[in-house]
Amino acid sequence: MTINTKIITLDFEVAKNVITNNDLTKILDTSDEWITTRTGIKERRVIDGDDTSTTLGIKAAKKTLKRAEKRNVKVDDIDLIIAAASAPEDVYPSVSCLIQAAIGAKKAACFDIKAACSGFIYAMETARAFIKSGLYKNILIVATDATTKFTDWTDRSVCVLFGDGAGAMIISATENEQDDIIGINLISDGDCGDYITLKTQGKNCPLLNEMTDHVKPFIEMKGKDVYKFVMHTIPPKLEELLETTKTDVKDIDYFIPHQSNQRMIDALADRLTIDNSKVISNIEYYGNMSAASIPVAIRESIDNGKIKLPAKVMLSAFGAGMTGANAIITLDKEV
Ligand SMILES: CC(C)(COP(=O)(O)OP(=O)(O)OC[C@H]1O[C@@H](n2cnc3c(N)ncnc32)[C@H](O)[C@@H]1OP(=O)(O)O)[C@@H](O)C(=O)NCCC(=O)NCCS
Repeated sequence: MTINTKIITLDFEVAKNVITNNDLTKILDTSDEWITTRTGIKERRVIDGDDTSTTLGIKAAKKTLKRAEKRNVKVDDIDLIIAAASAPEDVYPSVSCLIQAAIGAKKAACFDIKAACSGFIYAMETARAFIKSGLYKNILIVATDATTKFTDWTDRSVCVLFGDGAGAMIISATENEQDDIIGINLISDGDCGDYITLKTQGKNCPLLNEMTDHVKPFIEMKGKDVYKFVMHTIPPKLEELLETTKTDVKDIDYFIPHQSNQRMIDALADRLTIDNSKVISNIEYYGNMSAASIPVAIRESIDNGKIKLPAKVMLSAFGAGMTGANAIITLDKEV
């Protein structure tokens, strides 16, 4: 018996506060014109108060479970939770365990993965492997990051780019012939690890070492190197994925790249000769929400009618590590 994957449903939550480019001009030497022309971003969502990447993740998970009930998947059926949470507020407990407690998924095993902005597709691939192996049947993946908490708000080259959000998806085992996850490829290049960093302050034992206090706990980025990495690395792997899955690019209904920069989205679509009408972008309103960008873009575009179901969708993500990940999936009418 072949076990295939079924994408049951997905949903998202974004931070409530809207910070526009003009708002940022009050604290930074920047302009709406600079940010818009270089990135396509007009505004972003930023958490405050008690909100964290975990609370956003919990809300996205609860909304997803509510939708899943209509497809006969309930919280008690969830046997694995994977959180793609690369910059959680606390090192442990894991975000997935905190989500488990909040939603009451008692029997689920939980762990987090760290693949930065590529995390959602890394989690999908991990879920697919568990399902195909026969180990688990119903898996909740939650991509959540509140990157703005780790942003140096005096660094104009980084802080204008990011926003906070979470996306969740339930993937189940099916004996149907149709496999909703048609193919995925993952990329990692640790040699380029210094292109995007977020360092945390660990301390050596004071009996053995002098205390040091030199780490800035903020995202630092070599923007031009990131840009070049993406343009060199991602297109050939997207072409390889089309080839290995025997998919003609003309049969892709929608292309949803990671929402990092409109220029990168356009350049990737151009390289693949995908028509602009098939390219999904909401970066204008959210900025770069790390691993949550793709699930937010999928759900929002289904709900506002930009994506018509059923659909064959190509996803592409990239981020710190450096990591990259591409996927071709099918979304059915009920998703
Ligand atoms: C970040 C990015 C938009 C910067 O664009 P760029 O064209 O490379 O710009 P540069 O870094 O060369 O900066 C050009 C100038 O603009 C200035 N600048 C940087 N940020 C600015 C801002 N927010 N407002 C105004 N000026 C800014 C720089 O200081 C520099 O000034 P200088 O020439 O006087 O030194 C671009 O490199 C990029 O998008 N890279 C990919 C980053 C990314 O997506 N990362 C996440 C991946 S998951």
